[in-house]
Amino acid sequence: MQLHVSVAAAALAIFSLVDAAQLSWTDAYTKAKKDVASLSLAQKVDVATGIGWMNGPCVGNTPPVDKIDFPGLCLQDSPLGVRFAFNVSGGIAGLNTASTFDKTLALQRGHDMGVEFREKGVNVQLGPDVNMARVPEAGRNWEGFGEDPYLTGVMGALTVEGIQAEGVIATAKHYILNEQEQQRTTSSSNIDDRSLHEVYVWPFARAVEAGVASIMCSYNKVNGVYACENDDTLNRILKEELGFKGFVQSDWQATMSGVPSALAGLDMTMPGDITFGSGNSYFGGNLTAAVRNGSVPLSRVNDMATRILASWYKLGQETHYPSVGVNFVNYTDAPIRNVQHNHKKTIRSIGAASVVLLKNNGNALPLKTPKSIGIIGSDGGPSPGSYSETACADHGCDAGTLAEGWGSGTAWFPYLVDPYKGIKARASRTTKFKTSFDDYDLEEAVAVAKAVETPIVFANADSGEGYITVGNNPGDRSNLTLWHGGDALIEAVADANPNTIVVLHTVGPVLMPWLSKVKAVINAGLPGQESGNSLADVLFGDVNPSGRLPYTNAKKASDYPAHAVDAAEIDYTEGLLIGHRWFDAKNIEPLFPFGFGLSYTKFGYNALKVKAAGSKVSITATIKNTGKVDGAEIPQLYIGFPKSAGEPPKVLRGFEKVFLKAGHSTKVTFDLDTAKELSIWNSDARKWEVVKGSFTVYVGASSRDIRLQGTFKL
Ligand SMILES: *[C@@H]1O[C@H](CO)[C@@H](O)[C@H](O)[C@H]1NC(C)=O
Ligand SMILES: *[C@@H]1O[C@H](CO)[C@@H](O)[C@H](O)[C@H]1NC(C)=O
Ligand SMILES: *[C@@H]1O[C@H](CO)[C@@H](O)[C@H](O)[C@H]1NC(C)=O
Ligand SMILES: *[C@@H]1O[C@H](CO)[C@@H](O)[C@H](O)[C@H]1NC(C)=O
Ligand SMILES: *[C@@H]1O[C@H](CO)[C@@H](O)[C@H](O)[C@H]1NC(C)=O
Repeated sequence: MQLHVSVAAAALAIFSLVDAAQLSWTDAYTKAKKDVASLSLAQKVDVATGIGWMNGPCVGNTPPVDKIDFPGLCLQDSPLGVRFAFNVSGGIAGLNTASTFDKTLALQRGHDMGVEFREKGVNVQLGPDVNMARVPEAGRNWEGFGEDPYLTGVMGALTVEGIQAEGVIATAKHYILNEQEQQRTTSSSNIDDRSLHEVYVWPFARAVEAGVASIMCSYNKVNGVYACENDDTLNRILKEELGFKGFVQSDWQATMSGVPSALAGLDMTMPGDITFGSGNSYFGGNLTAAVRNGSVPLSRVNDMATRILASWYKLGQETHYPSVGVNFVNYTDAPIRNVQHNHKKTIRSIGAASVVLLKNNGNALPLKTPKSIGIIGSDGGPSPGSYSETACADHGCDAGTLAEGWGSGTAWFPYLVDPYKGIKARASRTTKFKTSFDDYDLEEAVAVAKAVETPIVFANADSGEGYITVGNNPGDRSNLTLWHGGDALIEAVADANPNTIVVLHTVGPVLMPWLSKVKAVINAGLPGQESGNSLADVLFGDVNPSGRLPYTNAKKASDYPAHAVDAAEIDYTEGLLIGHRWFDAKNIEPLFPFGFGLSYTKFGYNALKVKAAGSKVSITATIKNTGKVDGAEIPQLYIGFPKSAGEPPKVLRGFEKVFLKAGHSTKVTFDLDTAKELSIWNSDARKWEVVKGSFTVYVGASSRDIRLQGTFKL
């Protein structure tokens, strides 16, 4: 214990040094090139080749190269916390982070994860996920930041910045068009070059600007060619257009060839073997042979090793990096190293800030010391055994309250505060509780609902990665309805008591056939270990809700532009019209629009000013808290391009979170860089071009609640 504390303290002291000392790519390349010049071909190939599945303590491991004192790299999941490890924070989903629309919290979460990965001796965190939620059913949507490229770009870049400031290599993934689970290793995502750039490359471009040192290519094909051997997306777009200086690693078993992958720009194959445990590799001896027989130039292998070593130098990992402290093969062999610090505070803050209040009739919320509360539904109660390392591998089950999805994007919970526990801890000592956790015992649910002043009914919808099927959900959800008979449970409770409050924990949009019958609805997403506490913060008004939907919640499934399909060819025919852009273009009224969320107070918008000068456009507006309680508002900036540009009706180009005391106001400013934010991709010229003409400015409280409108000309 003593030793443990001092290790952590020493490690903390190092972080700040690392942060200050982070090298430029130029300096990192200089060091790496010097090393590479001294290595044999086989040693360079080693740097680029994982040692094989389960042959080391991390999910991915590269071998040491003693000659240059390179210890090899430990690569470990996930985008929300250290996977397969004890005494780590059971973090909060990317989707919830996006729901906060809070840049400070997103950055803090990145720092917290960086600290935990570093102290566990992990060199490379396999996150963030900056894929787009193209289809509402996609199993891994909750790992990423929602359906909007701009929002995903901002959140992804801040996450990278936070992780890397702690000296850990971040990995933006899964590059690219990995937008569903079914047939993910065989299907081709087919798209035009402009939509590819403006929607799907966009967040990766922001991650590259933030200095991301690794990018993971995905399992799927892109326009017929596998993403890890795709010259167009790797060499042309990532390395030439975006100027990416770090290394491209494959997703696990996503390398489909040797020579073509090497030539197309793959720099590291993971976990190294062709299939898990096969013992052979497309790189390794095959890559050495391919250089010797002239099919891969030596310069390509030099480049691979240089990119990998430069990333290691850039993050300052060559000095004082903690030894590997995870062991996913033999869990109990890992050294005891508690790396949680006070990160539960950030998790609770993000949990509360990401709660989206969807409906609140008659100010049903916040709760005003009810005499009695009913907690109804399995999602409101404990999750017995289901999140331990053995009982429910990778969270591939949905029992009790839902706080993470399933798959490799998970981390074990150190504990999980369920809603019942959190609400009870916060409620007045005089409040009586009744519970009913059996979703199918409607009689008992109704009895509880009738016996209490305020029934809170819980339901969820889960999804995850395709190697686990839960119920009839092959990673992707098979439908958009609530699980475990949630709709019937809510209806029954609402019919029994007009004060019914609904709390949902979902991985994305769900259908709400009972909506008109209930008083209030909250979607708390996937809040991680502090679930019940962060929910209680909002229910009792300690935190005024300011979460916003990072996706469109449609009235019916068929309103969405695209769906997860069991097909070999997946054509992105909606083009630029992903998510809310489609609903705008097709004039479809959503149930709850992108960017929507209620507050316990109200906000006024006025004094829009727009100034276009040179390559900058500056937009300001005044936001006032016109209600009676303090709270935060999320003003959002949408831009309407000139018609000639062929853009969607409105695209998101800014958001801020402003906290205002009741009666107070503040000015918010959105600065746009014309080259980046008011440009479109010209596929023929292969460059971004600033659009000329008259633009419309929309500032509002959601994509469908525009309060101020103006124009400018470029
Ligand atoms: C796991 O334990 C087995 C049996 O003791 C051992 O052979 C193997 O090397 C260990 N693997 C790791 C990664 O520690
Ligand atoms: C080289 O790659 C082939 C597949 O193309 C594989 O069958 C073989 O085992 C690999 N060789 C080594 C040494 O890994
Ligand atoms: C060169 O070696 C690689 C790896 O063994 C092999 O896949 C490829 O077919 C060889 N090419 C030639 C032209 O011999
Ligand atoms: C977690 O950390 C605590 C305190 O450092 C330690 O006592 C405990 O054994 C650790 N648990 C595991 C499973 O490693
Ligand atoms: C949707 O899927 C969930 C989860 O598998 C299942 O409980 C529910 O019955 C399904 N709903 C419909 C309408 O098929």
